[in-house]
Amino acid sequence: MGQIQDQVLVIFGASGDLTYRKLIPALFDLFMQDLLPKNFTILGVSRTEFTDATFRDKMNDGIRQFAYFKNPSKEKLSVFDEKLHYLAIETKEASEYVKLQHKLKKIDHDHQTGGNYLFYLSTPPALYGLIPQFLAKYGLNKGHNGFPRLIIEKPFGEDVYSAFQLNKLLLEFFKEEQIYRIDHYLGKETVQNVLVTRFANGIYEPLWNRNYIDRVEITAAESLGVEGRGGYYDHAGALRDMVQNHLLQLVALVAMEPPTEISAGAIRNEKMKVFQSLRPLKEHDLFNSVIRGQYMSSNIRGGHFKGYREEAGVDPMSRTETYVALKFFIDNWRWGGVPFYIRTGKRMPTRVSEIVIHFKPTPHKLFVSNPEFWTMGNQLVLRIHPDEGILLKTGMKVPGAGFEVKTVNMDFHYKDLQETYVPGAYERLLLDGMMGDATLYTRGDGLEAAWCFVQPILDFWKHNPNAPLYGYPAGTWGPDCADKLIGGEKQTWRYPCKNLADDGIYCEL
Ligand code: BG6
Repeated sequence: MGQIQDQVLVIFGASGDLTYRKLIPALFDLFMQDLLPKNFTILGVSRTEFTDATFRDKMNDGIRQFAYFKNPSKEKLSVFDEKLHYLAIETKEASEYVKLQHKLKKIDHDHQTGGNYLFYLSTPPALYGLIPQFLAKYGLNKGHNGFPRLIIEKPFGEDVYSAFQLNKLLLEFFKEEQIYRIDHYLGKETVQNVLVTRFANGIYEPLWNRNYIDRVEITAAESLGVEGRGGYYDHAGALRDMVQNHLLQLVALVAMEPPTEISAGAIRNEKMKVFQSLRPLKEHDLFNSVIRGQYMSSNIRGGHFKGYREEAGVDPMSRTETYVALKFFIDNWRWGGVPFYIRTGKRMPTRVSEIVIHFKPTPHKLFVSNPEFWTMGNQLVLRIHPDEGILLKTGMKVPGAGFEVKTVNMDFHYKDLQETYVPGAYERLLLDGMMGDATLYTRGDGLEAAWCFVQPILDFWKHNPNAPLYGYPAGTWGPDCADKLIGGEKQTWRYPCKNLADDGIYCEL
């Protein structure tokens, strides 16, 4: 762990939901663990008028609802409150930033924060290009005595062009090593554990390639719908919202070569090589290897669910996808010929994100008695959430006569480590940002390469509005044709049941 310096964290978009639900609760949890710097101030900035006192009241409410340490003593809360300050400015007006300049000067003087500023942009994306310019206008992008750093929330661009443009613009005012592009999936413990599983255990590496792996499957399923974010989501869709960022980051961690060391540069170099090796999707693939779906109203498991087009803020004729499934290849020596399947969707039967490594079967089938085992084979499931853990499915002899083989689960759950506190994604990412460690943030070139991979899909849908958009009843696993994509009768997606360890389309959810 690096050294953490005294600093001011300036949150733009401080009146928004992310600050209330995630950022402040995460900062409070860091505070409770004594992980914040000695001299540390949080300055909330947005257009809404708050005083320090009313801002603190609102944030205290967020802490009580969303922090891990949600029942703090009055004394603890009031020590934390002392760190919270607020400044209302018209964030779209360059001239307003003089107020920020003065405020920061005063905070530095009063709280000895050393001229170190970490700017967190959690505003509507239209401001991502403006705020850095305005900061620069008042010299706040230059380290006079301390450091300036910039954290940028997603979405980073809405297509490949705007992402390139935004990177270019940011680099006019900040250096790459000062820019921290957030992808909260990278802050999840279990996502980081992919690196540890792969590179701390000698037993996996020899098998982790085209010789032993049949296919890789990644699922990010959510049971919720768009939850009041219809206005945003209808312009984004699942491909932009989940695939371009979170799922491709998972692909990179599964597929990358061992880094030379655990450092931002080494890890991000290896991830970049994976992005560069993604086989570009050609017209044939766009027709056959990409499936989009949209949830429709349904009555399922005793409840009624609205269809996507009935959600607030959504165009009643919308063709935005709430589900995407994709098959693609990584053209390099390790992965030549191994298909990768990824899928994500809203309003699915359960909330689960997992990576499934399907190993090839034995070259000769000695035990022919149990077809179910042969279909499923050996699987290593890296469960990202919920019930974070690792599951290995392996064949075992059924006791008794003959040699019947049955699948059994070797299942590790993080929750069994009772003493271990599992920090939330924002907690880890904020701490890293404060320490200047960019390992779990995305680098500009990697992000651009990920956009380059998905852009042909966006173009294809744009230019072929009649390209199929399959409906699926809310509460189901998505369009039927996604099963054909992965192999039809021969092989299926993993359908995790309620316990997330067994699978089957019809099990209890
Ligand atoms: C966000 C998306 O980035 O990730 C949301 O904008 C999605 O639509 C969320 O629900 C999923 O994150 P998690 O951590 O709940 O899997």
